[in-house]
Amino acid sequence: MYSEKVMDHFKNPRNVGEIENPDGVGEVGNPVCGDIMKIFLKIENNIITDAKFKTFGCGAAIASSSMATELVRGKTLEEAWEVSNKAVAEALEGLPPIKMHCSVLAEEGIHKAINDYRKKHGLELWVEKNPHAHDHSEDPTSDH
Ligand code: FES
Repeated sequence: MYSEKVMDHFKNPRNVGEIENPDGVGEVGNPVCGDIMKIFLKIENNIITDAKFKTFGCGAAIASSSMATELVRGKTLEEAWEVSNKAVAEALEGLPPIKMHCSVLAEEGIHKAINDYRKKHGLELWVEKNPHAHDHSEDPTSDH
């Protein structure tokens, strides 16, 4: 059911933990499954120099957090904003359809952390291009 990449990032997640004095923090949750993800970013000169996470969630959510934090490290805020949940899932060599919402948490967590940074610096907040918040269409446990 899961790719080797997913299993690898689930068993040996990268970037677990907190950043002291983070420049941006994003906490997101999925109301359907109850899983929670918190993303911490260190940002210098518009570049993400460090990214860590704490996830209370399923294996796919942990693998997605691990991969997403790997993907955004070293990127500019603009580039990191473009890292979609699909990109995270692709980097993990795919997720089962029922688990795609777990990768959405990672995208949302990164977005929220970036906007937290922008807010703290008096910058305008960026808007989600594809709001997933109420999109549980791929999730059979959804009652929408
Ligand atoms: Fe909810 Fe994976 S994040 S089941």
